[in-house]
Amino acid sequence: MKLIQIVNNNGCSLPWLHAEVNVSPKHILPCCKYENGIKYDRIIDAWNGNEMTSVRNDFVNGKLPAKCWKCDVAEHEFSYMKWKGQSLMYEVNQYQDVDVVKAPVSINMILSGVCNLACRMCKPTSSSKFVEVIKPSAFLKNLYNDKVYAPNIDVESLRGFFVNAKSITFSGGEPLVDDSIFDIIQLANTESANLRTISFSTNMTAFRKDVIDYLKSLNVIVNFNVSIDGPKLIHEYIRVGCNWNTIVDNIRYLKSLSSKFHFGINTTQSALNVGYIPEFLQDIEKISTELDLKIERIKPSSILETHMHPASLPQHIKDVYIKKLSQAKGKSTLTNADWLIDTSIELMKKPAGNTELFIKFLNEFDLVAKTDYKTVYPEFDF
Ligand SMILES: C[S@@+](CC[C@H](N)C(=O)[O-])C[C@H]1O[C@@H](n2cnc3c(N)ncnc32)[C@H](O)[C@@H]1O
Ligand code: SF4
Repeated sequence: MKLIQIVNNNGCSLPWLHAEVNVSPKHILPCCKYENGIKYDRIIDAWNGNEMTSVRNDFVNGKLPAKCWKCDVAEHEFSYMKWKGQSLMYEVNQYQDVDVVKAPVSINMILSGVCNLACRMCKPTSSSKFVEVIKPSAFLKNLYNDKVYAPNIDVESLRGFFVNAKSITFSGGEPLVDDSIFDIIQLANTESANLRTISFSTNMTAFRKDVIDYLKSLNVIVNFNVSIDGPKLIHEYIRVGCNWNTIVDNIRYLKSLSSKFHFGINTTQSALNVGYIPEFLQDIEKISTELDLKIERIKPSSILETHMHPASLPQHIKDVYIKKLSQAKGKSTLTNADWLIDTSIELMKKPAGNTELFIKFLNEFDLVAKTDYKTVYPEFDF
C-alpha cells in the first residue's frame, strides 16, 4: 500500500513524514493536533515505537486513531491531514510504501524554555524570564497549570532522528539564544544530506553569534519568522523587555550577511493588539521600506486563553475597535492585511470572553512589570 492510498481514503500521511517534538521535557507527536505527547528516551525509538506504529496501522486499516480526534472535522473544515499531510506527501513521495518507515522529512521542534523576554501572553513553560517576572504575583502564578520552564536539552537523545530531514523549524523559548541550538543544528546537518530549510520562530532581540555564523556557512535557506505583535509602542508593552529598534537593527544585520536568510512575520492576536492592526500594518510597511525587506507573509495566530482573548475586551471598546478596523479594510498593500483585520473582528465577536479576568490580569501584570496600561491604551477607561 502507498501513502497516496491512505490520503485518498481520507487518512493522514503525517505519521510517516512529519514530527512535532518537545525536547524538554521529551515527547514526540505525529502532528500538533495529536492528543498528548509520546514520551521518549531516544527519539528514534519512539518514532519507530508501539504508539506511532499503532497510529500508522490504524490509517492503513482505514481507521482514525483515537488520539487524532481533533482532525475528525467536517469535509470543508481545516485539518492537518488534508493540508500539511498532502502537501508534504506530494513534495516527498506519494508512492512511498507504507511499510517503509523512514525518519521524518519535516520536523517542528520546541526547544527549552530559556528566553530573554516576558511577553504578557506567554506562559511559565515557555519563558524563564516570564517565570522571573511574575514571581511576586500570587494571582499570576495561580493562573497557569504549567508552573516551570524546562531548562535542559539532551542532544544525544536526538541522534539518528535527522537522517531524512529536509525542513526543520525551531521554536522555544527563544531558539536563537538556546544553549543547545548550535549542537542540534550541527547534528541535523551532519546526519541529513537533504537538509533544505531551517526556520526559526524568534523574538529577534538577541542571537548567538556562533549559531548565525554556522547557519551562514550551510547550504540551506534560513527563515527567520519574527514575532511582531503590534505597532512599536504596543509591541514593546506586550513583550516585556523588548526594544523595537533592536529588532530592526538585528534584521538589518542578518539581512546583510546572506541572501539565504529570509524574513517573515508572525503575529499573535490578543486583546492587547486587535484594535491596532492598521497601525501595526503601517509600522511593518515602514520596516519593509527602511530595510528594503520583502515581507513574504504575515502569519496570524490567536491566543486561546481567556485572560487575554480579544473577546474579553469590554463591549464598548470592542465596538470602537470593530468600527475602526472595518474602516481600515482595503488600505494596506501588505499580503494578508485584510484577512488579519477580518480575523481580529471575528475574534472580538466570539462569545468566550471574561472582561473581569482580563482587567485583573492587566493590572497584576502592570504591577510586576512596572508598567501602566493607561499610557499605552488611552481608550481603556477602567
Ligand atoms: C512561544 S514563542 C517561542 C518563539 C519565540 N520566542 C517567539 O516569541 O517568537 C512562539 C510563538 O507563540 C506565540 N505565543 C506566545 N504565547 C502564546 C499564547 N498564549 N497563545 C498563542 N500563541 C502564543 C508567540 O507570539 C510566538 O509567535
Ligand atoms: S519571546 Fe517568545 S518564548 Fe519568550 S516570552 Fe515572548 S513569546 Fe514567550
